[in-house]
Amino acid sequence: MSKTVDEVRSTLLSVLATGEFHSGEALGKALNLSRASISNHIKALTALGLDIYSVTGKGYCLASPLNFLTLKEISTHLPTGYSAPIEVLNVIGSTNQYIKEKFDDLENGHACLAEAQTAGRGRHGRKWVSPYGSSLYLSMYWHFTGGYAALGGLSLAVGVAVAKALVLSGVDGIKLKWPNDVYGLGKKLAGVLIEVEGQMGLGCQTVIGIGLNISLPKNVKEIDQPWIDLAQLTDNPLERNQLAANLLSTLTDTLGKFERDGLAPFIEDWRSKDVYANQAVKLIVGKQTISGIGRGVNESGAILLETEQGVKAFHGGEISVRPA
Ligand code: ATP
Ligand code: BTN
Repeated sequence: MSKTVDEVRSTLLSVLATGEFHSGEALGKALNLSRASISNHIKALTALGLDIYSVTGKGYCLASPLNFLTLKEISTHLPTGYSAPIEVLNVIGSTNQYIKEKFDDLENGHACLAEAQTAGRGRHGRKWVSPYGSSLYLSMYWHFTGGYAALGGLSLAVGVAVAKALVLSGVDGIKLKWPNDVYGLGKKLAGVLIEVEGQMGLGCQTVIGIGLNISLPKNVKEIDQPWIDLAQLTDNPLERNQLAANLLSTLTDTLGKFERDGLAPFIEDWRSKDVYANQAVKLIVGKQTISGIGRGVNESGAILLETEQGVKAFHGGEISVRPA
């Protein structure tokens, strides 16, 4: 049976993964394809965000070697007793969408990871730039027995979980931006997108999605705000499978604890990482902008802003915080 396009591209990538040069002819022979066909597959892989050099007389080469995510590798780094299902996918639209489509069949902690997303999303329908093999795109299912109100502050607890996973992987100095962003050196390193479906009396089905930049290609252009990746934050080479395992285990612990005890166990940690603590900021609330000083969060995870009228709490998904 002939291979699917996805299979051909996966094989091609596994040959290129070492980071050495391979001629079009050698690749063609290895995959039983013409050089023109190899060239077309390379173009498609480049469109997925892979940095592939093409040098006359030498062939094709990845800008940096690829370290694929595999279930086997991830499992070796998981703590004993970790039992939730994990799916490792190649190219997909959005890992959050993938989990949402299976909501009714999943158990708590069911997670998927992908090498690339073609329709990665952030809050308010914004785009999450998701090039191949250079980040973590992870989504996890969790069912919460309470209603929507019980989920207030969940994105803050998840931000704390991401910071904790990074500390386990040797990365310190992580800050959090209300309500869903993870920062390094004042720039966006990761984002959290929680999508919820509730049914009266049946609790809420949620998907918790995390996008974490590890080593983005140099030519990433579409991110319209300052960003950073782990490669710029640490000198230690980071193993993506190990990082994925750390993230999976801190996330399952966090979601279980949040379900039992709410936001309380995470608040102090969040406050200690608040990127805008005591800074002049503005809140964008729909068409309105409110300026003041960031004063952290209250017990339910609402952001506290000090204005001339005193300190006021703001909550709701429609608010964005920006430096003043
Ligand atoms: P806020 O959450 O405060 O409303 P935001 O600009 O962070 O504001 P989000 O919806 O949380 O918005 O995130 C989506 C935004 O993140 C995109 O509009 C883009 O600016 C940025 N972004 C997209 N992809 C990446 C990425 N891989 N790394 C860092 N930032 C990204
Ligand atoms: C944000 O900052 O607005 C959140 C970005 C969340 C991106 C992740 S990547 C994995 C999961 N799948 C998606 O489509 N989005 C989230």
